[in-house]
Amino acid sequence: MGNVTVIGAQWGDEGKGKIVDWLASRADMVVRFQGGHNAGHTLVIGDNVYKLSLLPSGIVRGTPSVIGNGVVLDPWALKAEVEKLQGQGVTVSPEQLWIAETCPLILPIHRDLDALREDASGAGKIGTTRRGIGPAYEDKVGRRAIRVCDLAHLGDLDPLLDRLCAHHDHLRAGFGHEVIDRERLKNDLAEIADFVLPFARPVWRDLDEARRKGRRVLFEGAQGVLLDVDHGTYPFVTSSNTVAGQIGAGSGTGPGAAGFVLGIVKAYTTRVGSGPFPTELEDADGQRLGERGHEFGTVTGRQRRCGWFDAVLVRQSAAVSGITGIALTKIDVLDGFDTVKICTGYRIGDTVYDYLPPNAADQAAVEPVYEEMEGWSDSTAGARSWAELPAQAIKYVRRIEELIRCPVALVSTSPQRDDTILVSDPFAS
Ligand code: GDP
Ligand code: IMO
Ligand code: MG
Repeated sequence: MGNVTVIGAQWGDEGKGKIVDWLASRADMVVRFQGGHNAGHTLVIGDNVYKLSLLPSGIVRGTPSVIGNGVVLDPWALKAEVEKLQGQGVTVSPEQLWIAETCPLILPIHRDLDALREDASGAGKIGTTRRGIGPAYEDKVGRRAIRVCDLAHLGDLDPLLDRLCAHHDHLRAGFGHEVIDRERLKNDLAEIADFVLPFARPVWRDLDEARRKGRRVLFEGAQGVLLDVDHGTYPFVTSSNTVAGQIGAGSGTGPGAAGFVLGIVKAYTTRVGSGPFPTELEDADGQRLGERGHEFGTVTGRQRRCGWFDAVLVRQSAAVSGITGIALTKIDVLDGFDTVKICTGYRIGDTVYDYLPPNAADQAAVEPVYEEMEGWSDSTAGARSWAELPAQAIKYVRRIEELIRCPVALVSTSPQRDDTILVSDPFAS
């Protein structure tokens, strides 16, 4: 029995939260290793809906949950989310939630900068979640971040704030924005420290111990491979590595800990925010996918852009992320289409591509080459076995496997936890 790493294989919102929750019953620990509260993972359990942004989805089942050092942590967002979940009856205490002491903090100044840049960018904006994710990662690699462990040394904060504020005040001045109120920031940090510190610990040691004891760890990715800062549709990406390869650096464990890499793949494609989207549909079919799939952002409420399944992109994601098998989600949203299309290649003029070219202008120019398949009128919603799926839906799944060169391990047929078809158990390999 090995570990499992769950990552999104498209542009996020593939249904990672549901699958992590489903797998969490068999895991000893769930670990986030990148991103921050830009994520929005939805769990539906009976009549209860849980929306998690920063907390690992295992927390709802009571599985010990770890926020690794690769995550950028907004301590105020953490407090709000913990309190919201507690209000829904979920226990979140230092027994269940462990936060790496080395997590860089997202501060209000990061949110400011995110918004200032987006507002100044006009049509060229990234369409970020405005949570300060990018600016916080910049400060991390710029070696001026304030980290969780610094909250335990408030008396030593001044030199850190000097470095950080000097940098940000220049940037803010460029936008005509007021300088940072340092005293207020210091007081705010002192105030929130008491909330955060009880959760803080050397989680690399917990992971090491888990490995030595043969515990099963479930790594929970946020966003998706096409939003990866190296492998995604740059510059329309997030500021972290979202590929499975990030688990080691982002949690303090070896790269071999990934185990079975489960790519979460929506049976069609969505994207929220700006950037290229070759199979985007701006017609009635796109509208229908959005309505049937309730495609509105969990974090920002923005309408998600919708389009046909893009096998070229998922094949590429599977390759760059070492995906072992996929969980295909939301197949029920395709119920009732007369025909469904799958993108199998791209064209720019006479040039044919079997991958997404890296240049932003080329990415915007590619024309999808489609294969059309007969749809199905019977419902797949709520199916829990292959036998309950219409023959055409099975054909669709099999064709996807072929095109992306990866087997299907799970199929999800509704938002509910148990409406899931297990084809092969990721933990068993
Ligand atoms: P995540 O960010 O990858 O965790 O995905 P989100 O939670 O942002 O978006 C996925 C949405 O689809 C959520 O509202 C889920 O409840 C819902 N969902 C997940 N799996 C299925 C499924 O198989 N069918 C349907 N209809 N909805 C699903
Ligand atoms: P989950 O984990 C979908 C997108 C934003 C924007 C780009 C950069 O729920 O799948 P950022 O705030 O990260 O700097 O924004 O990335 N984005 C997501 N899109 N799902 C997410 O997370 C996302 N997190 C960020 O919309 O285009
Ligand atoms: Mg989401």
